Amino acid sequence: MATRKIIAVFGATGAQGGGLVRSILADPDGPYAARAITRKPDSEKARALADAGAEVVAADADDPSSLAPALAGAYGAFCVTNFWEHLNADREGKQAAAMARATKAAGVQHVVWSTLEDVRKWVPLDDNRLPTLYGKYKCPHFDSKGEMDKVFVEEGAPTAFLRAAFYWENFIYFGLGPRMGDDGNLVLALPLGGARLPGIAAEDIGKCAHGLFREGLSTIGKYTGVAGENLTGQEMAMKMGRALGRTVDFHDVPFDVFRGFGFPGAEDLGNMFEFQAMLGDEFLKARDPVRSRELDPGLLDFERWLEQNAAKIPVA
Ligand SMILES: NC(=O)c1ccc[n+]([C@@H]2O[C@H](COP(=O)([O-])OP(=O)(O)OC[C@H]3O[C@@H](n4cnc5c(N)ncnc54)[C@H](OP(=O)(O)O)[C@@H]3O)[C@@H](O)[C@H]2O)c1
Repeated sequence: MATRKIIAVFGATGAQGGGLVRSILADPDGPYAARAITRKPDSEKARALADAGAEVVAADADDPSSLAPALAGAYGAFCVTNFWEHLNADREGKQAAAMARATKAAGVQHVVWSTLEDVRKWVPLDDNRLPTLYGKYKCPHFDSKGEMDKVFVEEGAPTAFLRAAFYWENFIYFGLGPRMGDDGNLVLALPLGGARLPGIAAEDIGKCAHGLFREGLSTIGKYTGVAGENLTGQEMAMKMGRALGRTVDFHDVPFDVFRGFGFPGAEDLGNMFEFQAMLGDEFLKARDPVRSRELDPGLLDFERWLEQNAAKIPVA
């Protein structure tokens, strides 16, 4: 049997990287072997990946010196950072830059970097349509990733850029699911400004990344946005209601109201949703379900995702 090429996967115990590792392991006759990078090789999630056949290695993106052994001998690398663990965009940028430099130093041939738009390219800091946050960001968790694209280009190994969409799992785990309304119906409340929201099953992001590795080096330097389906708030509420056997109404929350909710990251997310609405079709076209299905033929649309997940959506 030919030696399989190693894909070293950051975030392997998480949603995006986990989806990629499982997708590689589900294709044992394919060209790739999965190397799962984690800070905690003894964690339950890391052990589950090892039991499923992944090589598990320790590294911490906050410690650049730990990255070289994790990438040694790898053909490919999937890089993702987790802003929501610390809500610190500067730290996220440093982690991404360390990953980029380490891929180059290790001689990796194909990187997939999970990035997002640097909103400041569309809405500069002096543009008051969106409030500036922390003095230098419009949407910290987007800006910090997009800002690092240049570092991947200039200091990293050859890189393909992947832009993910809103995980539908946010309805389960991120507190964005429906709430009980005054009339006893459920209310899905999101600040969409009438726009469609590109959404995706988190597991499909990793499967799309696998597709980019399979497509090969022609993906280098290109941006690929992925989404399972781009739906209006009303469409999501209607489909969710059908799956839950309840009436779900949609409430389009004003952006300023959402920014004022006060939970950690509320202003960042409020700006994100407003940016998506401001860009309109440009944001949707940058996340194309047809292209995503080319990369991941089993890509779920929202109804298929609901069939598998509706029972997990917490409803009061
Ligand atoms: N939620 C959404 O709708 C959405 C949409 C688009 C993009 N995103 C972006 O997705 C990113 C998070 O990805 P995810 O959802 O796949 O993550 P996740 O499920 O929350 O898991 C986080 C992963 O990051 C790893 N990690 C965190 N800090 C690390 C470090 N210092 N060194 C090495 N590994 C580290 C963790 O590994 P260990 O703990 O095992 O070390 C874990 O595997 C966020 O930055 C977010 O902005 C989210």
